[in-house]
Amino acid sequence: MERKLVFAVNGERFELAKVDPSTTLLEFLRTRTRFTGPKLGCGEGGCGACVVVLSTYDPVSDQVKEFSVSSCLTLLCSINFCSVITSEGLGNTKDGFHPIHQRFAGFHASQCGFCTPGMCMSLFSALVNADKTSRPEPPCGFSKITKFEAEKAIAGNLCRCTGYRPIADVCKSFAADVDLEDLGLNTFWKKGAKDANVGRLPCHDPGKICTFPEFLKSEIKCSVDILDNSKNTGLPESQWYRPSSIRELYELLNSDSFSKSRVKLVVGNTGSGVYKENDLYDKYIDLKGIPELSVIRRDSKGILFGAAVTISRAIEVLKERKESELDSNKRLVFSKIADHMDQVASPFIRNMASLGGNLIMAQRSQFASDVATILLASGSTVCLQMASERLVLSLESFLERPPCDDRTILVSIHIPSWSSAMESSSGIDGCIASEPTREANILFRTYRAAPRPLGNAVAYLNSAFLAHVTLDKISGDLIILDLHLAFGAYGTEHAIRARKVEKFLVGKVMTVSVLLEALKLLKETIIPKKGTPHSRYRSSLAVAFLFKFFQPLVKDLVVLEKNGPADSSGVAAITEYPNSDINECADILSHRVSHSEQLNNPNVILSSKQLVEFSNDYHPVGEPIKKAGVEIQASGEAIYVDDIPSPKDCLSGAFVYSTTPLAWIKGIMFNSTLASQKVIAYISVNDLPKEGKNIGGSTIFGTEPLFADSLTVCAGQPLGIVVAETQRHANMAARQANVQYSTENLEPPILSIEEAVRRRSFFDVPPVVYPQKVGDLSKGMAEAEHKILSAEVKLGSQYYFYMETQTALAIPDEDNCIVVYSSSQCPETAQGVISQCLGIPNHNVRVITRRVGGGFGGKAVRAIPVATACALAAFKLRRPVRMYLDRKTDMIMTGGRHPMKINYSVGFRSDGKITALHVDIFINAGITEDISPFMPSTIIGALKKYNWGAFSFDAKVCKTNLPTKSAMRAPGEVQGSFIAEAVIEHVSSFLSMDATSVRKKNLHTHESLILFYEGSAGDAPEYTLPAVVDEVASSASYLDRLAIIRHFNSCNKWRKRGISLMPLVYQVTLRPTPGKVSILSDGSIVVEVGGVEIGQGLWTKVKQMTAYALGQLSVDGTKNLLDKVRVIQADTLSMVQGGWTAGSTTSESSCEAVRLSCNILVSRLKSLKQSLEEKMGTVSWDTLISQANMQAVNLSASTYWVPDGSSAEYLNYGSALSEVEVDILTGGTTILRTDLIYDCGQSLNPAVDLGQIEGSFVQGIGFFMYEEHVENSDGLVVSDGTWTYKIPTVDTIPKQFNVKLMKSGHHEKRVLSSKASGEPPLLLAASVHCATREAIRAARVEFFSTNDPNSSPTTFQLDVPATMPVVKELCGLNNVEKYLEAFLCAHQKMEANQVWAPREDNLADTKEG
Ligand SMILES: Cc1cc2nc3c(=O)[nH]c(=O)nc-3n(C[C@H](O)[C@H](O)[C@H](O)COP(=O)(O)OP(=O)(O)OC[C@H]3O[C@@H](n4cnc5c(N)ncnc54)[C@H](O)[C@@H]3O)c2cc1C
Ligand code: FES
Ligand code: FES
Repeated sequence: MERKLVFAVNGERFELAKVDPSTTLLEFLRTRTRFTGPKLGCGEGGCGACVVVLSTYDPVSDQVKEFSVSSCLTLLCSINFCSVITSEGLGNTKDGFHPIHQRFAGFHASQCGFCTPGMCMSLFSALVNADKTSRPEPPCGFSKITKFEAEKAIAGNLCRCTGYRPIADVCKSFAADVDLEDLGLNTFWKKGAKDANVGRLPCHDPGKICTFPEFLKSEIKCSVDILDNSKNTGLPESQWYRPSSIRELYELLNSDSFSKSRVKLVVGNTGSGVYKENDLYDKYIDLKGIPELSVIRRDSKGILFGAAVTISRAIEVLKERKESELDSNKRLVFSKIADHMDQVASPFIRNMASLGGNLIMAQRSQFASDVATILLASGSTVCLQMASERLVLSLESFLERPPCDDRTILVSIHIPSWSSAMESSSGIDGCIASEPTREANILFRTYRAAPRPLGNAVAYLNSAFLAHVTLDKISGDLIILDLHLAFGAYGTEHAIRARKVEKFLVGKVMTVSVLLEALKLLKETIIPKKGTPHSRYRSSLAVAFLFKFFQPLVKDLVVLEKNGPADSSGVAAITEYPNSDINECADILSHRVSHSEQLNNPNVILSSKQLVEFSNDYHPVGEPIKKAGVEIQASGEAIYVDDIPSPKDCLSGAFVYSTTPLAWIKGIMFNSTLASQKVIAYISVNDLPKEGKNIGGSTIFGTEPLFADSLTVCAGQPLGIVVAETQRHANMAARQANVQYSTENLEPPILSIEEAVRRRSFFDVPPVVYPQKVGDLSKGMAEAEHKILSAEVKLGSQYYFYMETQTALAIPDEDNCIVVYSSSQCPETAQGVISQCLGIPNHNVRVITRRVGGGFGGKAVRAIPVATACALAAFKLRRPVRMYLDRKTDMIMTGGRHPMKINYSVGFRSDGKITALHVDIFINAGITEDISPFMPSTIIGALKKYNWGAFSFDAKVCKTNLPTKSAMRAPGEVQGSFIAEAVIEHVSSFLSMDATSVRKKNLHTHESLILFYEGSAGDAPEYTLPAVVDEVASSASYLDRLAIIRHFNSCNKWRKRGISLMPLVYQVTLRPTPGKVSILSDGSIVVEVGGVEIGQGLWTKVKQMTAYALGQLSVDGTKNLLDKVRVIQADTLSMVQGGWTAGSTTSESSCEAVRLSCNILVSRLKSLKQSLEEKMGTVSWDTLISQANMQAVNLSASTYWVPDGSSAEYLNYGSALSEVEVDILTGGTTILRTDLIYDCGQSLNPAVDLGQIEGSFVQGIGFFMYEEHVENSDGLVVSDGTWTYKIPTVDTIPKQFNVKLMKSGHHEKRVLSSKASGEPPLLLAASVHCATREAIRAARVEFFSTNDPNSSPTTFQLDVPATMPVVKELCGLNNVEKYLEAFLCAHQKMEANQVWAPREDNLADTKEG
C-alpha cells in the first residue's frame, strides 16, 4: 500500500507523498501553506511564537485530544493523521475573528503583534482543555478555566512589547472566578463605570471551533479497519520509520541500510531545541508507534510510565487521586513530582516532551534535567533494552553508566509508591534500605532555583529530598531513619545522590549541630564542574534547599521562630512542634513549607489598575481606540517580511561570521557533511560589483563594512553569506563553514574598556554633539561637607530580543533596479547603503517596510547589513534572496546596548544636599561608530535629572574588537539615570539617610532645571515632576508601606523586602518628518508617513490625527472618517526623506506632518464644500469627494514638517514606586508591586501610551534584573538564545502593577499637547533594582558584622542585572551556615549563663566568610 502523510491544517486536508523527514511542522506551514500565523521566534522551543494546537483522534473511544505544541520542534512526519489549528484557523478576516482575537484587540494586548498568534494558541489550548473537564458549568460566557490557569497558559510565551499585563487580562477574562472590574483598560466597557459584565465581551463559545475535521476521523477509522495497527502511519518509508514493536525497531537498526546512515530516534523531538542540529540525518525512527513505550500502569507498587509518555500526561496521571491510595504519603510523592514537572519548560514543550527523551538527554548528554533529579530522589527505576538484553536498573545506576549508545532504548520508568511504612515497592538497589517501621513518616519535597519561576528556564540547581522520619516520643526529637537527597543541574554530569550526607544523617536526631555538619558535608559534595557559571552560588543553593527542608523539623530552630514576632502578613510563625504523633510532624512540615511556598509563590495572580485621563479636545485624537490592524495581528494574517510569499526561484541566505576578535582570514572551507552539500553560492567581499563598495551600514558619524575583507576585527563580524534553497539548509550549511585564521603580526585585540583606555582607542565625538557642563565643580566641592571620591559603577549590555529577528527579502528588478523588503526602522538609510554597495543610484533601490516585529533600536543601523547582504546576493545571482537570521546569529552579530564603566566623585552636605558631581564615563562602542558618539549626550542628559549643584564630566567612546553596539530603547538615558540613582544611593548610605529623602532634597527646582536643561526645560507649569513624585508617594501609601516593610524585615529572617521611589526626567528631540495624505475617488483615505509601524501604535495615532484634521470638513462625524483611513507601508521611492523611527517622537512628528497635509486638503476643499452646501444643504463626505474629483481638485497633499527650533526638545516626567521581596536563601526577587505615574501631556491615544509605558517598564526590568549578556574571552557572545538569555515572562512582572497616565493640560509647543511615551518609562525600572538593594541591605544588616572593614553591610554595589546569583552573593553565600553557627554559639553561651533567651541580635553578630 502506498504510504502517505495525511493531516489537516485548519480543516484543510493535506496529503504528502514525499517529505524531507527533517522538515518541521513550522517550516511546512510557513513555506508550503498560506498560513502565516505560526512565527519563527527562536527555533528552540523557548519563545512560543510558533505555537499551534495539535489534535489527535482515538477511533476506539471516539475522543479528540487537543494540546499546544511548538511547531518549530515538531517534525512534520510525526503528525500523521493529526489536525493542526493555527491562529487563522480560529478566525480570520474572511470568516470573522475569534473571541480570543477580539479580546486581544479590545484589551490592547498586541503591539508589534509578532508574539500574538502564538499567545492566542496557547490560550486556546488551555481553554479547550479546561472546558473538557468535569468541573461545574461556568456562568454563560465564561470558560471553566480558573484565572490562575489562564495566566499560566502563557507562561512560556515571550512578548517583548506589552509587558504582559494586558495579555494576562485577556486570559483572565475567560475565567469565571475573575472580577471583571479588575481587568485593565479595554474597549468593552468604561473603566470604573461599574458596567463590566461578560455580556460585553466577545462571547466565549467552547464548541465553536472544530479542532478535528470529520473527514480525517473517517479516514482514521477506515485505516484502522484495514490494518490491525498504526503501522502504516509515517512516511516516507525510505527515510521515516515508525516501528510497532521493539523487535521491529531492532530489525531496522540492524539492517544494512541503517548501519551506514545517520539515524535519529525521536519521540517529541524537543531535544533538538536543546542540542541544535548542525547537520542533517538520513533516517528517522519515530518511537511513538511502539505501544510498550506509551504504556501507563498504576498499581499498589507504583506507577510505570512507558518512556514515550509525555511530561504533560505524566503530570495528569501523577495528580490523579486514586481511591486505593488513601495514604497521603503515597499521594505526597506523586503530587510533588507532578508539581515540580509543572515547572519544567512550558505547556507547549511538556505536551510533546517525553519522560524517556528527557532521561536519555540527562544520561547521554549531561542535560540539566529536573526529571532525573526528582525521580532519583523518589527511588525510581528504569527498564533498558540493549539489543536482546533487558535491564532493570535504579535510576542512579542508569545515570552513572557510561553514556548510552544510540542503540540502547529506554523502555519505561517506574516510580514507586511510598507508604507510611517507608517501603518502596521497587525493591531495586538504590532504594531506602532501612527496616520499615509503622510509626515512621515520609517527607518529600522538591526545589528548583531558576531565573524565571515558571517561564521556561532551566534551573541553576534542582533538588529533591525524601526522608523517612520518626519521632522520639520521650524527647520529642526527630530521628531520621533514612534519606534520599538528590541534586542536579548545578554543573554536574548527572543528578546525584549526596550519599555521604545521607549516611551522616541517617539514624541521627535532627539538631542544629547535626544540620550544620550535614550542610558542611553537602557543600563539599555539591561542587560544580570547572567552568560552570555561578558555581559558588549553585553550591550555596544546595545548602539553602536542604536547610529549607529540615529547618521546620529542628526543634530548637522552631522554638526560636516561635519566640519571634508574627510577620507583617499577619501569619504567625509556626509555634507548635510535634511531640505526640509523628503524623503531625509531616502535617506541620507541610503546613510550614506550604506557608512559605505560598508567600513565595510565583503564581500569585497579577492585579493591576490603570488610571487614564482622557481628553476630548481633539476627538478622535485622545480616544483609547484599539490598535490599527490588531485583529489581523492576532489571527496571524498580518504580513511581516518573512510572511511575504517567496517569489519564483527564491533562495535563502545565512551569515558566516567570525569567531575570532582580530585575525587574518586565510581561507574558508566547508566541512564535508550532508548540510554543506546544500550550499548553492557563497557571497563575500569578492562578489561586490565593480562600481560597488564594501559598505553595510552608515550614520552621520561614518560607515561600516558589510563583510570582513582580509582581516576580521571582531567575533561576530560577517564574513560572507551562504546561499541555499531553504533557510534551514542555508543556516545549517553556514555552520559547516570552517574558517582559517592567523594572528600573525597582529597586536592583541582590545576586548575591554580598560584595554581601550590603556591603548587610547577612542572614537571622536564631534564638539557639536558633546554635552555641556554645569557650574563650577571646584566651588561645588568646596561647599561640600563630605566627599566620596572615585567610586565605580559598571553596566553591561542588553540584547534587543525583538521577537522577529533581522530579516530581508531582495528581489532583482529590471534595469539594474532592486526591491528590498526589510524589517527596518530606517528604510531611507538602508536604501542609501544598498545603493552604494551595489554601485547604483538611490532611485534604483526601493526599500519597503510594512511592519516590524519589534525593533527597540536594533532594527535601525543593525538591520542594514542584513538588507544589504541580501540585496548583494540577489544582485549577483539575479534571483530573489531572503534572509531570516536564526536567533543565535542575530544575538551574536547584532550588538545591543552599550556596556560602560563610570567613576564618580561627589560632594555633599550632611543634610543630603549634593553640591558637586564629577563623572568619568567610558562607553564600550564596539568596532564601528554607529550612533555611539551621541552616547555622551544622552547619558549626560539623563544624569542631569537631579540638581547636582555643579556638574562636570568626561566621556570617552571606546573602540574595541567587539560587535558594534547601537541604540537600544532609551540608549544612554537608562544608564545615565541609573548612574544618578547610584550616586544618590551611595550618598544616602554614607549619611545613613533614607534614599527617598536624599532624592527629594536634590530634585530640581524650575530654576535649576533651566540651568541644567537649557532650551528644553519649558515654562514653570510644565515642570510637573515634584507633583508627580508626591502623588505616587501618597497614592501608593509610601510611608505606611515603608513602616510595614521595616516591621516585616524585623520578623522574617529569610525573606526581606525593600521599597524605592524614583523620579524620571527624560529629554526627547523632534525631528523633521514627512507626511502625505491622499483622498481616493471613493472617499477612502490613504496616508503615508516617514515613520515605520514597529508596534508603537504609530499607525493608530496617525489614523486618529487624519480623522481629526479632515474632520474639519466632514459632516458625517469623525468616526466615519476614522474607518476610511488606511496608513500604508513605508516605501522609500514613494515617501522620501522618511528618516528614522527612533527617539520616541516619530508618532507625534508623523501626526503633525499628517495634520499639516490634511490642513492643505481642507483649505482646498473648504470653499467647494461651502458652495455645495449652499446649493444642496448638507453635503456628505462621499459627495464632497466625488465633486472635488469632477472639479479637478488635487486630493493629495504632502508636507515635510520641520519642528521649530525653540520647541524641538522637551522634557518628560514620571515617577515609580516599587516594592520587592528577596528570598535570602536563593537570591530570587519577586516584584510585589509597582505604582507608576507618567505625565503624557494630553495623550494622543491613552491605550497606546499605556502599552508603551508598561512594555517599556518591563523591558527595563529585564535590563536591571534578568538579562545577562555574556561574552567569551574572544568577545563572542555566548548569551545566544532563549536558553541563556532570559527576558521577563508573565511570572516575573510586578504582581501588582498600577499605572496612571497623567494629563498635564495644555502644552502649546507640543503636537496637540501630547508627549512621548515609548522610551522614558524604561528608566523607572531602576526602582525595582533600588528596592532590591534596600532588601539586600536589610539582610546584610542582619547577617553581616558591622565590624568587618572589607564588607560594609550598608554600602555595596549591586550589579546590573541583579540576577539571583548576584543578589544571593550580596546577601551572603554562607548565611545559612553562619546563622546556624551563631545559633550554636549563642546556645552555648546561654548554657554557660543558664539565662539565655534567643534574641535576633545575638544572631546578627556573624561575619561573611
Ligand atoms: C525550551 C525547553 C525547555 C526545557 N526545560 C526543561 C527543564 O526546565 N527541565 C527539564 O528537565 N527539561 C527541560 N527540557 C527538556 C525536555 O524535557 C526534553 O527535551 C524532552 O523531555 C525530550 O523528550 P522528547 O520526546 O522530545 O525527546 P526527543 O527530542 O525526541 O529525543 C531526545 C533524545 O533522546 C533520544 N530518545 C528519546 N526517547 C528515547 C528512548 N525511549 N530510548 C532511547 N533514546 C531515546 C533521542 O534519540 C534523542 O537523542 C526543556 C526542553 C525545551 C525544548
Ligand atoms: S519559534 Fe518555536 S518556540 Fe520559539
Ligand atoms: S506584541 Fe508581543 S512581541 Fe511584540
